[in-house]
Amino acid sequence: MSFDLTPEQRQFRDMMRSFVDERVAPHAAEYDRTQEFPWESYKACQELELSSLGIPEEYGGAGADMVTQAIMAEEIARGCASTSVTMLISKLGMLPVMNFASEDIKRHYLPKIASGEIQASYCLSEADAGSDVASMRCRAVRDGDDYIITGSKYWITNAGISDTYTVFATVDSSKGAKGVTAFLVEKDWGVEFPKHEDKMGLRASPTGEIVLNEVRVPATHRIGEEGEGFKIAMHTLDRSRPTIGAQAVGIAQAAIDYAGGYMKQRKAFGGPIANLQGLRFMLADMAIRTEAARTLVYRACSQIDEGDPEGTLTYLGAAAKSFASDTAMSVTTDAVQLLGGYGFTKEFPVERYMRDAKITQIYEGTNQVQRVVVAKHLLK
Ligand code: CAA
Repeated sequence: MSFDLTPEQRQFRDMMRSFVDERVAPHAAEYDRTQEFPWESYKACQELELSSLGIPEEYGGAGADMVTQAIMAEEIARGCASTSVTMLISKLGMLPVMNFASEDIKRHYLPKIASGEIQASYCLSEADAGSDVASMRCRAVRDGDDYIITGSKYWITNAGISDTYTVFATVDSSKGAKGVTAFLVEKDWGVEFPKHEDKMGLRASPTGEIVLNEVRVPATHRIGEEGEGFKIAMHTLDRSRPTIGAQAVGIAQAAIDYAGGYMKQRKAFGGPIANLQGLRFMLADMAIRTEAARTLVYRACSQIDEGDPEGTLTYLGAAAKSFASDTAMSVTTDAVQLLGGYGFTKEFPVERYMRDAKITQIYEGTNQVQRVVVAKHLLK
């Protein structure tokens, strides 16, 4: 077992670091202010073919390992958390396709995602069913060779921007989790986008409601069998939550880097505040927790690469996501503290890091849900 990145992974990280500093980070504050989709940063990422990383080679992707994908998420998040989730979301939408869809569907959609020609969203949550997925109301009724889907999905990342929507709907709400079924729905089949959220953080990543009003979806676009949707959703989140952990680590690292630089410049009591032991210890604690979070994230990612040999991925993914995001929240809060009044203003980026960190404790399952998952593993 090696705890070191391979030479290729290290080279990729170094390349990503300079790329993000040059092409992504400079736009982050302005996109955060305007809430515009970060097209410039997204297109720069496409020039590096980053969308292809998570797609297998046989479907036109680069087939990168999960640790490399985590490095991508972390490094982009260090510069712009919104761009980072933008680069992760299509993979989340496509994981059910990669693992459970028919060969025809895979061959049709995955190469387009890999090339960046289209983007995908993952539509699980509803206004009244967030953590409690099984109580969803969006319904799918079989009609000959099609399904008619009616309902609304909430908190959808990339709503209106994405070209495809992986929608979870119930074919029989009396069956709870066992009625949930997954579908791939194209935007042009009648998906509506009535509402976008005005968010505290991750403001350049659009989040909105999607409405399906008797949208006709060919049965060929059902992913897996009827009633398999709940397990498909959980299987998908097991493989995605570690990358949310990676995003959180990137945000935390940005806060450490900025606060450390500030401490060397800012003078008080006759010298730089970097000489004050109380503040040095704060920065040290921030780094220690972030390093531990990074290691846990890489461990969960390597479990995915190894094919989950011990069946511990569900637990490790939940542990990595919750630990890394709790770390990002406390580290960014401390970074604001280290900058004092300046940290509380929009002239400095640490308040944005703090706002962006918050969502990592909430999406892809709240950190309370992650603890439900961890406890279930311990007590089974
Ligand atoms: N993999 C495969 N199967 C799983 C599974 C997993 N990880 N977890 C549970 N299952 C199976 C169980 O074995 C069980 O199967 P059987 O009935 O055959 O035994 C079935 O699924 C039901 O499991 P539970 O009884 O454990 O389900 P539950 O209703 O108690 O829910 C939960 C458990 C952990 C709370 C789950 O509902 C959950 O994770 N909720 C959070 C949802 C979430 O993360 N939402 C985020 C939305 S995505 C997002 O944020 C996207 C974005 O845009 C960024």
